[in-house]
Amino acid sequence: MGRLLFFSNNKNKIIEIKKIFDKFNLQLLSLTDVGISDEPAESGQTFEENAKIKSDYGYNKTGIPCFADDSGICIESLNWKPGVYSKRFLNDFKKKEVCFNSIIKSIKKNGKKNAYFKTSISLTINNNQNIIFNGKINGKISGQIKGRFGFGYDPIFIPQHYNKTLAELSTKEKNEISHRSIAVTKLINFLAN
Ligand code: IMP
Repeated sequence: MGRLLFFSNNKNKIIEIKKIFDKFNLQLLSLTDVGISDEPAESGQTFEENAKIKSDYGYNKTGIPCFADDSGICIESLNWKPGVYSKRFLNDFKKKEVCFNSIIKSIKKNGKKNAYFKTSISLTINNNQNIIFNGKINGKISGQIKGRFGFGYDPIFIPQHYNKTLAELSTKEKNEISHRSIAVTKLINFLAN
């Protein structure tokens, strides 16, 4: 059985990914399993660069094929930011509702409603050998904060062809269309072949 390392400290993501990998004849290892407690600085300018920094780091430390992901939201009315700074941008506000309202206000001001979420997964399988899998979901920013499911920016993001925010969709419904599941499916198809 082959081994694969998932470079993430996010417990929810690890559970989600472990579930997906259950059907494969692969031993999925977490950072705890291999005794890595430090992480490299996410100093990249793009999701792809940050994902690669993490998957290369995991591979170089262990010699085990390693994948890592990086994701975020890009909002037209904020000049397609915060992008790779999505987590920090939200955390810089005292409450997430304050952040959401400031985004909604900017849209009401300039009328630019478009937004997308993107995930990049990098798989490092050898020295200097890395493959990127991208997933994207287009949509728009809602006029109101809505829904109680999901996390992050879900309560203000309405996927294209929907009239509900991601936070109003069940986890199952979200997983069927999300940027993360699109990228993970591409990774799995690659590994399966
Ligand atoms: P990460 O790189 O997947 O940890 O994502 C970085 C940040 O982007 C998160 O902390 C969230 O604020 C935002 N984000 C990424 N994916 C999603 C999502 O599916 N829904 C809402 N926010 C997300």
